[in-house]
Amino acid sequence: MASEAEFKGKVAVVTGAGNGIGRACALAYAREGADLGILDREADALAETADMLRSAGARVTSVVGDMTDLDRVVSAFANVRETLGPVDILLNNIGQTARENYSEFWLAKPETLRFVVDVSLMTTLMCSRQVVEAMRERRTGKIVSISSDSAMNGDIGCVDYAAAKSGVLGFTRALARELGPFGVNVNAVCPGPTKTRAMQRIPKDSYERARNAIPMGELCDPEDIANAVVFLSSDKARFITGQTLMVNGGRVFY
Ligand SMILES: NC(=O)c1ccc[n+]([C@@H]2O[C@H](COP(=O)([O-])OP(=O)(O)OC[C@H]3O[C@@H](n4cnc5c(N)ncnc54)[C@H](O)[C@@H]3O)[C@@H](O)[C@H]2O)c1
Repeated sequence: MASEAEFKGKVAVVTGAGNGIGRACALAYAREGADLGILDREADALAETADMLRSAGARVTSVVGDMTDLDRVVSAFANVRETLGPVDILLNNIGQTARENYSEFWLAKPETLRFVVDVSLMTTLMCSRQVVEAMRERRTGKIVSISSDSAMNGDIGCVDYAAAKSGVLGFTRALARELGPFGVNVNAVCPGPTKTRAMQRIPKDSYERARNAIPMGELCDPEDIANAVVFLSSDKARFITGQTLMVNGGRVFY
């Protein structure tokens, strides 16, 4: 675990910080002394996160918008740089399954496949692209991306999501190789089923099935993911790069 105020003076950006895992990670960074750039398409949820972060002592800048829109991404990162300074830590957290459009692949609509890949993979590429140049120049930085253990398990009905989240792992490895010489770490965390609204929306019997598939007998708390994210963002993980850390109570081993 990181020591007291591990991230004092550092700027962390968390995408999708309005809810769930993103909010828990943003709060964990703030408790460790970081200032926060937070991005989300849900204005009210993001404002609530911003209040929580300020109460924890962080300086905060919030950008509301859909981060599948490249112009929005570019202006969001410009806002963070101008308000807080260069980005030391990027957490790529935005992503989702097809949710209400969930289906087996033989029934999947092309627009759903494209949406899931855009939101669960392209946002990670586009947001990371905004920070890598300065990280190379400054010879420091941490990029952590939230994938999913669905990438390894290959859950039925999640072909698009598994493809996108596997893409996040390939992205992590290749970028780690490019940025290793510049002292920048690039890693991924794969949550298993986690107690966020995404899981609260699913039918009770599916929730029970998900829980029964986890050897540790319960779903992840968002804070379990935040603990792993904070570690990988800290200097305690300085020699760890290109790696995937599974936080899933043993649902899938990797
Ligand atoms: N909850 C789980 O069981 C679980 C399991 C494995 C992986 N994950 C991954 O963890 C990450 C976070 O999931 P969560 O459960 O906390 O979800 P969540 O829906 O609770 O939170 C996601 C946040 O991202 C924001 N967001 C989504 N798309 C966006 C976009 N295009 N532009 C701007 N903001 C956007 C949402 O508004 C929301 O605030 C996702 O990448 C998800 O795929 C979740």
